Amino acid sequence: MHEIQASLHPDENAPVVNPNIYGHFAEHLGRGIYEGLWVGLDSEIPNRKGLRKDVVDALKELCIPVLRWPGGCFADEYHWKDGVGPRESRKRVYNTHWGGVVENNHFGTHEFFELCEQLGCKTYICGNVGSGAVQEMSEWVEYMTSPSESPMADWRRQNGRQDPWKIDYFGVGNESWGCGGHMRPEYYADEYRRYNTFVRTYGPNPIERIACGANATDYKWTEVLMERAHQHMNGLSLHNYTLLDEKWPPSGSSTEFSEQEWFSILKAAVAMDDLIVKHSTVMDQFDAERRVGLVVDEWGTWYPEEPATVRGFLFQQNTLRDALVAALHFHIFHRHSARVTMANIAQMVNVLQAMVLTEGPGMLRTPTYWVFEIFKLHQGGRLVPIHLKGPEVHGLPAASVSVTEKDGSYTLTAVNIDPNDGATIAIDLKARLVSKARILTAAQMNSHNTFDQPNHVQPVEFVGYSLSESKLHLNLPSKSIVAVDLTF
Ligand code: AHR
Repeated sequence: MHEIQASLHPDENAPVVNPNIYGHFAEHLGRGIYEGLWVGLDSEIPNRKGLRKDVVDALKELCIPVLRWPGGCFADEYHWKDGVGPRESRKRVYNTHWGGVVENNHFGTHEFFELCEQLGCKTYICGNVGSGAVQEMSEWVEYMTSPSESPMADWRRQNGRQDPWKIDYFGVGNESWGCGGHMRPEYYADEYRRYNTFVRTYGPNPIERIACGANATDYKWTEVLMERAHQHMNGLSLHNYTLLDEKWPPSGSSTEFSEQEWFSILKAAVAMDDLIVKHSTVMDQFDAERRVGLVVDEWGTWYPEEPATVRGFLFQQNTLRDALVAALHFHIFHRHSARVTMANIAQMVNVLQAMVLTEGPGMLRTPTYWVFEIFKLHQGGRLVPIHLKGPEVHGLPAASVSVTEKDGSYTLTAVNIDPNDGATIAIDLKARLVSKARILTAAQMNSHNTFDQPNHVQPVEFVGYSLSESKLHLNLPSKSIVAVDLTF
């Protein structure tokens, strides 16, 4: 049994956890959009305006703050004009990046905004720098947001939408160092400045602009972008996937793994902390006031695809190990809330570390889904810095804890990464009442949900706590995640 001592250091200047840290990403990739979200108006699968009801209803429970679309690598080959107008006459194109399948463009701009409306979330659109012209990007923004008489706004009206929509965030290219054009940072910085100039603001709503940021440890990219273009951006992105032994290409398996591989993946997840510290340090040199957010708009586990699934569709199962990866990421993002203003897990449905998986009319919630659900009260809470003293396992702290405060309540989440031993945590926390306590754990490290047993891994009430005098005592079973809401 690991014994952990924790002390809280409330600080009214501590940062607020931006709700956008709980953001999502949906790309035209595999069965992420088609089948996963969009089934079309004539489908036998129950849908609202073509969007499947079961999936949207499940996602709504997560209070999703923001959704990034249409890619990913797909974004730099996406030509938005192919995806508006009558669906039956939309252009059918080849999805070169993902599985070489035909993209019928039935899910386009109008359908994306409908999805965001149904989810009640903000919009984050990624524009095409790699293979699209400045004019194309500029016209897309005009189409979506212009309230006046103008060629693109008129076309939007002809296509059935009177009022402009609101773009909250606009990404100027994706992975411009790789699939988005293999550019050098110096070249992209100039391209960013040029394209961004024509992302015009129409009407009263300003658009926050996100520049394409670094791949994992590429600190030079961050330095060049900040030096040459920080005045023109609201956010700079960072992509980092959790890979076995931190090595590309993905190896291992989502469900068949050893204890050593359990720790390898958790170690790779914890490496996010070091990445954020180092990228933030570079950003601080040019932006000491932290005006520019670090936007981790692709993160999550990436394993080889499930056997007998289509190559390039990136379909993987999701176990208790993935749930711990998500929980550890959130604790890291919380700690760095002063700089990290958004994070978007890759991806929302049927792709990589997904929230839900579908098979025909069937749908299941993954263990990762449940982390988003039990952590959701952290959104918008003020961070309460916490210091932990306790043992390590395999070179990693056995436990991780995060506390936020909002409207007279604390939300506390704790993770015990040890697959064999429990952990006790005593926290000096002046709380009076536990209003809700839940635990997510399972018998095996690789426990997961299947279409036969969709509720095998799900949170249940947590009873392993006591509140005495000013201390909260938690008794965490091995490999578990606990969420406790308290009032003080
Ligand atoms: O999420 C899958 C892919 O990973 C995205 O398309 C790309 O941006 C990244 O390399």
